[in-house]
Amino acid sequence: VVNSRMGDAVSPRLREVMSVLVRHLHAAVKEIEPTHEEWLTAIRFLTETGQMCSDWRQEYILLSDVLGVSMLVDAINHRRPSAATPNTILGPFYVENAPHYENGANICLDGKGEPMVISGIVTDVHGKPIPGATLDVWQTNNDGFYDVQQKGIQPDYNLRGVFSAGADGGYWFKSVKPRHYPIPDDGPVGKLLGQLGRHPNRAAHLHFIVSAPGYEPVITHIFTPDCPYLREDTVFGVKQELVADFDSINDAARAGELGTTAPFWNVQWNFVLADK
Ligand code: DHB
Ligand code: FE
Repeated sequence: VVNSRMGDAVSPRLREVMSVLVRHLHAAVKEIEPTHEEWLTAIRFLTETGQMCSDWRQEYILLSDVLGVSMLVDAINHRRPSAATPNTILGPFYVENAPHYENGANICLDGKGEPMVISGIVTDVHGKPIPGATLDVWQTNNDGFYDVQQKGIQPDYNLRGVFSAGADGGYWFKSVKPRHYPIPDDGPVGKLLGQLGRHPNRAAHLHFIVSAPGYEPVITHIFTPDCPYLREDTVFGVKQELVADFDSINDAARAGELGTTAPFWNVQWNFVLADK
C-alpha cells in the first residue's frame, strides 16, 4: 500500500532512486562502522557545503566534480558517435554573451602569458565543413583565475570570446597558452581534498562550446600536452583525445603576419559535431 501526504504525487522514479541510494548507503555504513562523532562530522560537512553555496558558487557541484560524479553523469547522458569531438566537464565559470569577435582577434586583454595562435575547422562526422558554426571559448588568465573570479582586477571578459567559423568552416584566434589552476579550494571541498592528500589542480585547458543548427552542441576542452596535472586532473576531466600539440614557432616574420610576437605557440585543432 502506498500512502501519500495530501497534495504530493507519489513519484515512482524517486522511489527507485531512493531505494538504490539507501541500499548502497547502508552497505557503506556497515563497512565503515562510523562512530557517532564520525557520523556528526559527515552531517557538519554537508551543512557547511550547503552554507558555502551562493548564486556564483555551487559547492555541491565542486563536490560532485572531485568525486568523479559529474564526469560519470556526463558520460551517461552524452554518448556521442566515436567520430565526434568528445565532450568534457562544463565547470562553473562559463558566462553567456561573451563578446563576439572576428576571426584572428586576441581574446587575452591583460597581456599576460605566452602568446598562442589557434586555428582549425569545424566539420560534421563525414568531414564536411560547417560554415558559420559558433565557437564559444573561455580560459583562465596566466595567474590561474577566470575573469569572474577577479572582477575589478582583470578586464571584464578577459580570455572569453565567441567566434563564427567562415564559409570553409575555418576559425582562428589569438590567446595565451593555458596554465593549470586550482579549483576554488577555500571551502569544505578544498578542506576535504587537503585531508585526503589530494591537490586541487585542474590540468591546463581551454574551454569550448561548439554549436551549429542541426548538430549536437559539444561542451569540450583542449588540454596542453606538457601539464604536470594531465594524469591527475582533480575533476577527472581529461580525455586523451582532447590533448593537443602545442608547437613553439620562433619565426618573427610569421608572428608579425599573424599580429603576434615570436616565439608563439601554434595549435591546430578541428572540431567534429554529431548530427542531431
Ligand atoms: C572547472 C572548474 C571547477 O571548479 C570545476 O569543479 C570543474 C571545472 C573548470 O573551469 O574547468
Ligand atoms: Fe576551466
